[in-house]
Amino acid sequence: MSAPVVQDPVFPQNPKTARTIADLRTVVTTWKRDGLRVGFVPTMGALHDGHLALVRHAQSVSDKVVVSIFVNPMQFAPTEDLERYPRREVEDIAKLAEVGCDLVYLPTPEIMYPADFVTRVHVDGPAQGLETDFRPQFFDGVATVVCKLFNQVMPDVAVFGEKDYQQLKVVQAFARDLDMPVEVVGLPTVREMDGLALSSRNAYLKPEDRAQAIALYNALRHVRAAVVDGLDVEAAITEATGNLTAAGFAKVDYIAVRHAETLGDPVDGEPQRILAAAWLGTTRLIDNIGV
Ligand code: PAF
Repeated sequence: MSAPVVQDPVFPQNPKTARTIADLRTVVTTWKRDGLRVGFVPTMGALHDGHLALVRHAQSVSDKVVVSIFVNPMQFAPTEDLERYPRREVEDIAKLAEVGCDLVYLPTPEIMYPADFVTRVHVDGPAQGLETDFRPQFFDGVATVVCKLFNQVMPDVAVFGEKDYQQLKVVQAFARDLDMPVEVVGLPTVREMDGLALSSRNAYLKPEDRAQAIALYNALRHVRAAVVDGLDVEAAITEATGNLTAAGFAKVDYIAVRHAETLGDPVDGEPQRILAAAWLGTTRLIDNIGV
């Protein structure tokens, strides 16, 4: 039996929560019948100010906003951090209450992936290379779950952070290719005072690593300066990699300059994006900047 859509009786200012597709649909179809524009922010929880900026943006371009919290097993490899990924449902709902989110959707793995589930959404183009070279399962997992979430929530607009830039391009590509009636919007990365990109995985950083983490952003800026000044970009990438190692990063997965839209090779005179992923201790950080 499905749990009802719940309005918290103790904190009535809290957003409604729905845990089943049927309950989610009950709310969203009512909004749609009233002609309201629905905004959507998909998350895996452990919300930080970057997520809340996405919610605020969704509010500015729609009438009602749904935030989903679902730690998606399909995008994690067996060796990755699915079990230790931070889960903070109560704190997350409180944060969403503060920003005035209308509905929090909290599906279970059984709802998202019933025993007879056999489908994968696979994207080529922007999904090729970069993250896929190191996490081959990742974008099939992301595309499949986001496709399902779009079909469940039926949003008019969905907001993603540019922090996961390749993910944003992958989602935009399949939404376009599959004729999904949703506008996929990217929002600039929110950073700490020193420039570190906000990420739920920053919670893994030991205090001694936190001070070094900024080296990733500095490495991106070093490469960007070379691109802008017309210097030897490959040499700059080698220097930036060395700088990361000197700062204590254990391994640099990639630092790459790509075409900002296709994520293929850069084209002179067209927007470019510099993307990087590197390990600080046991924490894998990713970041990117525009040129
Ligand atoms: O960016 C994330 O938090 C996740 O990859 C997403 C988009 C919620 C899909 O699980």
